[in-house]
Amino acid sequence: MTDQVIKVLPSRIVNQIAAGEVIERPFSVVKELVENSLDAGATRITVELADGGSQLIRITDDGVGFSPADLELAFVSHATSKLAELQDLDHIASLGFRGEALASIGAISRAWIRSCQPGGEGYEVRCEGGEIESPRPAACPPGSILEIRDLFFNTPPRRRFLRSPRAEKAKCQDLLIRLALARLDVDFTFVVDGKQALRLPAGESLKDRVGRTFGRQLAGNLLEVKHQSGTYRVEGLVCHPDLARRDSTMEILYINGRCAKDRSVMFAVRQAYKEFLMHGRFPVYFLGLWLPPEEVDVNVHPTKSEVRFVQQRFAGGVLHEAVRRALQAGDIKSAGLAVGGEMPKARSGLPDLPADLFGRSEGAPPRPAQWVGGHPKAPVSGGSGDSGDQEVAETSPTTPGSAGVLVNPFAALRERTFLQVMNLYLVFEGDDGIVVVDQHALHERVLYERFRNQHDQRETRVQGLLVPEVIDLSASDKQWLLESKDDLAAEGFLIEDFGGQSISVTGIPAVLGRARPKDLVETFIAGVGDQRPSGREAIVERFHSMACRAAVMSGDRLVDEEIKALLQEALTLEHPHNCPHGRPTVLTFSGPQLERYFKRRV
Ligand SMILES: Nc1ncnc2c1ncn2[C@@H]1O[C@H](COP(=O)(O)OP(=O)(O)OP(=O)(O)O)[C@@H](O)[C@H]1O
Ligand SMILES: [Mg+2]
Repeated sequence: MTDQVIKVLPSRIVNQIAAGEVIERPFSVVKELVENSLDAGATRITVELADGGSQLIRITDDGVGFSPADLELAFVSHATSKLAELQDLDHIASLGFRGEALASIGAISRAWIRSCQPGGEGYEVRCEGGEIESPRPAACPPGSILEIRDLFFNTPPRRRFLRSPRAEKAKCQDLLIRLALARLDVDFTFVVDGKQALRLPAGESLKDRVGRTFGRQLAGNLLEVKHQSGTYRVEGLVCHPDLARRDSTMEILYINGRCAKDRSVMFAVRQAYKEFLMHGRFPVYFLGLWLPPEEVDVNVHPTKSEVRFVQQRFAGGVLHEAVRRALQAGDIKSAGLAVGGEMPKARSGLPDLPADLFGRSEGAPPRPAQWVGGHPKAPVSGGSGDSGDQEVAETSPTTPGSAGVLVNPFAALRERTFLQVMNLYLVFEGDDGIVVVDQHALHERVLYERFRNQHDQRETRVQGLLVPEVIDLSASDKQWLLESKDDLAAEGFLIEDFGGQSISVTGIPAVLGRARPKDLVETFIAGVGDQRPSGREAIVERFHSMACRAAVMSGDRLVDEEIKALLQEALTLEHPHNCPHGRPTVLTFSGPQLERYFKRRV
């Protein structure tokens, strides 16, 4: 039997293991090195890749550089200039602080730093698979050049996980763009296999940088966000909901300048968009949240990509309010119909954006006009030279971006005759063309706003049931509903414990009177998951779906009086353009659009 089997691992192996946490792929190297350059005060950073970064990643900056003594420690683990004491962790202003990145990179590559401080001599140091050489003099312009060759040469399993050079390059470019959007004062250049792939000059606006990286169509559909609440500040841009995506890749959030994710505050932003987004769509935004450094813990994740807030709800609330106000001030409404025209490919290498809702491609069906009378706000790209701009100008009589008055689309329909088509659509002549209304979506919106108003004024009306309806539930659902009984009653839902697994419903909100009580209860419960909401506001949230249950359905034949009453009420809506789930309620096909469609005008 051996005496001792446990051994302290040599530091080289320790570093290689640690590197696995920090350096996943070439983009991780790019992230760490560009962040270092930014921390070093660089105003100009060039990132070069060869073979997707697996052969070479070179970062050149004009930052403060390394002294020869610092070069000696550059690749040493837990060596940093950014942190001296434990308390420093409470108010970190730099992007790095762990003193781990260069040690990790040096452990799994052939790395080489050349650096020169302003007015000093140039030096270089090499580190191969964790083997650090001594620094020696070398010619170098002021700043630093870091070359990382043969990434993962000594960790073959990692190397096998590398994707194609194109895929790795795309990841690096996305990452660089994210870093660059937070530092408009820095000039970034991205060179791939000797060719310049991206150049972002210093001093441009966020909107211009977004345009340069994601295309002018996206940049033309942005609203500015500026909001302060106590010591918390939000700045940035939110995108028109019509350009929402099927994934969350363009929810870009910076927390004190660091691109980081936090599920709860991102959820808060989505909630602000909720009225305008269809289920399963994610907003596009570029937002910076600034707060006192001691209120956020950045030391949560090895790659520093997650943070934790001391006041998480407050942080989410500030972001929510900032976005809500911006959307409101921008009179956002949904054009809703994805017709024609393709968005240009995101130059970032991110997945394509969805079809342009303000489609401008030749031969595409007419895009819906959302403006009746007044001046369209024209949520279109501002620049010239875009092949589609001409068409946009025609459809939108005022200059792009000019402020306009949003008119209730139902205003023109008062005295008009109408058709009900397919027992679903109501079709009219509007002031500006043909108006098509989705009766279900509109009725949903009407019911929801009626309900919401009653809730706000605390005068919810109840429709008592002559015969209470008994409904069987799971034990946990039943318990939850009974615990919320008073809040439900305040919103017009009267329930009682019926014993066993059942409750009895004795009254429902009069607004939802068309629906079957059982359907309403089932809808109320559906999809809440384990975290059951409580409180009146949470209950109101559930009414989005319940309004759907009570609304006239596709296939419901309506009599003229019902249609008139519906349209009459639509005139009073706060958000007439969308149903509570974000689907459009109305589309207008304008005269000029119809002319183009029928080739009366070319
Ligand atoms: N481009 C650069 N110019 C000047 N100094 C640099 C540069 N890159 C790194 N350094 C110096 O090298 C040190 C080590 O860098 P490293 O990235 O390993 O750690 P860090 O940035 O301090 O923390 P983290 O591991 O969180 O990134 C830094 O603290 C900094 O002093
Ligand atoms: Mg670093």
